[in-house]
Amino acid sequence: MAVLIFEREKIEIMKHDIKDMKLAMGGKLRIEWAGKDMPVLGLVKKRFLKAQPLKRLTIGACLHVTSETANLMITLKAGGASVYLCASNPLSTQDDVAAALVHFYKIPVFAIKGEDKATYYKHINQVLDARPDMTMDDGADLVSILHGKRKNQAGKILGGTEETTTGVVRLRSLAQEKLLLFPIIAVNDAMTKHFFDNRYGTGQSTLDGIIRATNMLLAGSTVVVAGYGWCGRGLAERARGMGAHVIVTEVDPLTALQAVMDGFRVMPMSKAAPLGDLFVTVTGNIHVLRGEHFRKMKNGAILANSGHFNVEIDIPALYELAFHKRKVREFVDEYELSGKKKIYLIAEGRLVNLAAAEGHPASVMDMSFANQALASEYMAKHGRSLKKTVHTVPEAIDREIARLKLKAMHVPIDELTAEQKEYLASWEMGT
Ligand SMILES: NC(=O)c1ccc[n+]([C@@H]2O[C@H](COP(=O)([O-])OP(=O)(O)OC[C@H]3O[C@@H](n4cnc5c(N)ncnc54)[C@H](O)[C@@H]3O)[C@@H](O)[C@H]2O)c1
Repeated sequence: MAVLIFEREKIEIMKHDIKDMKLAMGGKLRIEWAGKDMPVLGLVKKRFLKAQPLKRLTIGACLHVTSETANLMITLKAGGASVYLCASNPLSTQDDVAAALVHFYKIPVFAIKGEDKATYYKHINQVLDARPDMTMDDGADLVSILHGKRKNQAGKILGGTEETTTGVVRLRSLAQEKLLLFPIIAVNDAMTKHFFDNRYGTGQSTLDGIIRATNMLLAGSTVVVAGYGWCGRGLAERARGMGAHVIVTEVDPLTALQAVMDGFRVMPMSKAAPLGDLFVTVTGNIHVLRGEHFRKMKNGAILANSGHFNVEIDIPALYELAFHKRKVREFVDEYELSGKKKIYLIAEGRLVNLAAAEGHPASVMDMSFANQALASEYMAKHGRSLKKTVHTVPEAIDREIARLKLKAMHVPIDELTAEQKEYLASWEMGT
């Protein structure tokens, strides 16, 4: 029946570039599945439908084309915006979701999973051809083109938002050199983004990726977590919760002390190397696991990264040490080291939660993308008066998202009484 409806419906002629429109129905189901775990974004959408805060604005978005992003695009459109979407990574596009956005939601998408570099940039330019008033980036690719080849368009832009650390770092350096041509809101730095996305999202999805790739039992195994930042502590807690003995390695004394007080064993990697069954890096740093460590590892040790690109594990050094390498499962390479020792590397050292699982669950993206939607509304109102620099998400938005998430989870909390407010505001009242 659904297919019949699909075939009969007249497809509006709208410029787009996707893999295959026949995938649209599958994509719609995925978008709806993610949407049911995105109640905060749902509440924002409801308000946007009435208030139309983005009316007459065109938004150019360069994000991972996933079912969660689709829900964000639908919300922006509900707010009155014309939305154009391309991918922020050539490998992360869900082609069925792209088809559904075009077919069912009439949102132009320019993204095909596995597109080459030339197509990737062609798609970004097609979004910019729509002459957006606002940008929405995950890695600052749109903004960097608007500061290079298409600088002539920058004057029209009210402002933009940025989803991720890497993008924020790039934009801050532009701003520091006083070269940023319009204001940007760093969604990544919102508390309702990194407190939850990095900690609970990465914590869970990293283990999900490792388990899907290996089917290993965590209970009773020794898991070494390198880096005890937001991602690392989420991961360490979850591994312990599944019965693993967790060792943490760190370079920052304060963070290492927290790990000790949280009840983890903390030691240098050189000492942890012979003990671990599974090693996971989440540091944002280079060569955290390297030759000297591989040499000390047990036969059968498994290595994964959920931090930065594919540089946290020194893969060339592992390759150098091995006399034989073969793929033994999807996403698992076996390196046979001299002395009949085998070490297993998951997903070629790339982000294991995205490569071997589905990235962050929709429930976590709910808050990150509610930040995006509300930051766009803020930019639509205040963009012209904001300084051309990188701004943090206003605290009121962060708090509102936390409030809405609690509401959606049916968790009421206390309110300050008048007496308590007075007490907290006063420096005179003591005991
Ligand atoms: N996989 C994902 O989906 C995902 C999601 C969010 C963030 N990330 C990435 O994960 C990485 C960590 O993010 P975060 O938010 O936890 O950052 P963070 O800055 O909070 O934590 C990183 C920690 O690693 C420690 N560290 C640095 N070098 C080290 C070393 N050589 N050995 C041991 N510890 C070391 C630092 O002291 C710090 O405590 C970043 O690269 C980030 O981009 C990945």
